[in-house]
Amino acid sequence: MKGIILAGGRATRLRPLTKITSKQLLPVYNKPMVYYPIQTLAKAGIKDILVIVAPEYSGQFLNLLGSGHELGVNLSYEVQEEPRGLPDAFVIGENFIGKDNVALILGDNIFDHDFSESIASFTTGGRIFAKEVPDPERYGVVEFDDNNKVVSIVEKPKNPKSNYAVVGFYVFDNHVIDYAMNLKPSPRGELEIVDLHNKYLSNGNLDVNIIEGMWEDAGTFDSLLRVNNLVAEKIRQGENL
Ligand code: G1P
Repeated sequence: MKGIILAGGRATRLRPLTKITSKQLLPVYNKPMVYYPIQTLAKAGIKDILVIVAPEYSGQFLNLLGSGHELGVNLSYEVQEEPRGLPDAFVIGENFIGKDNVALILGDNIFDHDFSESIASFTTGGRIFAKEVPDPERYGVVEFDDNNKVVSIVEKPKNPKSNYAVVGFYVFDNHVIDYAMNLKPSPRGELEIVDLHNKYLSNGNLDVNIIEGMWEDAGTFDSLLRVNNLVAEKIRQGENL
């Protein structure tokens, strides 16, 4: 299993914090944000990791993380010239992934969940993770039928049919490269990760796992502040984050 951290984009919502650096290099309590997705992958047993960065900040990522050996991982880097949507990670990462399966984590998603069993037991198809949240309209949302069967994943629905948001950690078999290459941009001009989910779902091999525990997408001032406080509290209580 290979790992990809998507840490591109311009994070205009966080200006001026992101005027001279990348969102994923901003502090989350005692570490730059990108340390957390690296640790989430490492804890799950994934050590070969591709970090996808925006061209402006590639040097900063390299200075900070280098080869990754200090963090116990092997890092490779690719530049994403323009933010084209999350599935672009599998297009950019084609050579890095090779013939392996791949886990993608978003560089601004902070978890305390241990994904190691989900990675160890993965064989084929797609495996995504959902968490109950109060504000599902901010995310990809899982729609269930009356028998609790997943019927579709909808990106940022105005009227969400459930409170289960799809979190930014995804596991796919090698077909994902082909599927990503054949996606068409959505009306907002980006490739959509939910189109990959729905592709696997319609093939009958999407597995949706519900997770609990801390999960934040640190992409807004409020969620960034919240995750700083959550992480600080956990570290004060002796958790090893
Ligand atoms: C992306 C995905 C969305 C997912 C979210 C998790 O949204 O498109 O499906 O729920 O990440 O953080 P974005 O944060 O890029 O708007």
